[in-house]
Amino acid sequence: MNHNDIHYALCQSPEELAVAAALIDQRDDNAHPLDHQVFARARAVVLAKTLEGEIVGCAAIKAGTGNVGELGYLVVSPLFRRKGIGQGLTLKRIEVAKAQGIALLFATIRDENHASRVNLLKAGFHFWRNYLSIRGTGNTVGWYYLALGDEVDIDGTMQTLVGDRVPAG
Ligand SMILES: CC(C)(COP(=O)(O)OP(=O)(O)OC[C@H]1O[C@@H](n2cnc3c(N)ncnc32)[C@H](O)[C@@H]1OP(=O)(O)O)[C@@H](O)C(=O)NCCC(=O)NCCS
Repeated sequence: MNHNDIHYALCQSPEELAVAAALIDQRDDNAHPLDHQVFARARAVVLAKTLEGEIVGCAAIKAGTGNVGELGYLVVSPLFRRKGIGQGLTLKRIEVAKAQGIALLFATIRDENHASRVNLLKAGFHFWRNYLSIRGTGNTVGWYYLALGDEVDIDGTMQTLVGDRVPAG
């Protein structure tokens, strides 16, 4: 399979959303179970499709309003990894976020998720800070951001988003 054989498109139907949800349910990175109702309210779900129309990856801008958006639900089908599809899904989400008027994108990544961290940094994201997981598991979670407009107060916004989470080394 060639990189050019994959195209990226917004999820347009309940059927496609169900396929995307099934992909996320099969995630092998110890993620928490998918809340299907919250997922269905995502601001955008982006799909990676083969020429035959098979959905081999998905990613979202999570549910929310206003000019700050959160990335999440990134998964690429195991047989299709390391071909740039994760990166393609993230670049497509940035394009969609700009079109939606989002001024700041952020994402949280568990410390051990090297692939996702590289994925964000390659797409232009910056590391903000590490915090302890709010779930009390002792996990370290990295916070990342990408400003899409000049007028964003990055420090103030990120500080508001992290709230009273405890910084981690
Ligand atoms: C994270 C994930 C979506 C990456 O998808 P992908 O299509 O394989 O990623 P890409 O091919 O675009 O990789 C981009 C870069 O990330 C890095 N990378 C990706 N997977 C990696 C891995 N397993 N180990 C080390 N680096 C990795 C590489 O630098 C890679 O570029 P390269 O292949 O040119 O070296 C995929 O591994 C996945 O679905 N994982 C399980 C679910 C998950 O962790 N989701 C994110 C939760 S926040």
